[in-house]
Amino acid sequence: MLFTLAAARQGCKVLEVGGSRGYSTIWLASAVALGVGRVVSLENDPRKVSAWRANVAEADLDAYAELIEGDAFTTLPALGKCFDLCFIDAEKGDYERLFALAREKITLGSLIVADNVLSHSDTLAAYSRARQSDPTLVSVTVPLDRGLEFSTIIG
Ligand SMILES: C[S@@+](CC[C@H](N)C(=O)[O-])C[C@H]1O[C@@H](n2cnc3c(N)ncnc32)[C@H](O)[C@@H]1O
Repeated sequence: MLFTLAAARQGCKVLEVGGSRGYSTIWLASAVALGVGRVVSLENDPRKVSAWRANVAEADLDAYAELIEGDAFTTLPALGKCFDLCFIDAEKGDYERLFALAREKITLGSLIVADNVLSHSDTLAAYSRARQSDPTLVSVTVPLDRGLEFSTIIG
């Protein structure tokens, strides 16, 4: 699904919050490689950072993906880039604040995808409700796998 979303936009610039060991990054980077886009992935666990670098290099995708090590609450605001697609997959209790930070880096018509909104509905039902009642977004819960909230910026 992430591959499909990223591949649909030529030169897609992707922001990923929570890169872990690079599994989702590899799907995203494989897609942006088709249109010479780029993935910026944020991760704060040093062991996962090492695994991310090894896995992305082994997949021969390091030309298309870079990892910024550190707490996303520090690294994300420092990014100067405009992104077309953002994937939020970090601590569930942080999604509300991460969405607000990511939104600052996203252009009109762009998409923010949040993972786990059904598997962690105790925490994330409020996140989905807030997105769906925001008139500057079109937001829908996609009941695929652990549940994804797709929020397109329209204003
Ligand atoms: C569920 S995993 C991500 C999985 C990955 N997106 C994938 O599908 O392959 C969540 C990751 O977010 C990272 N993380 C959580 N809070 C973070 C923060 N504030 N800044 C950076 N990384 C964070 C964790 O260390 C963990 O590796």
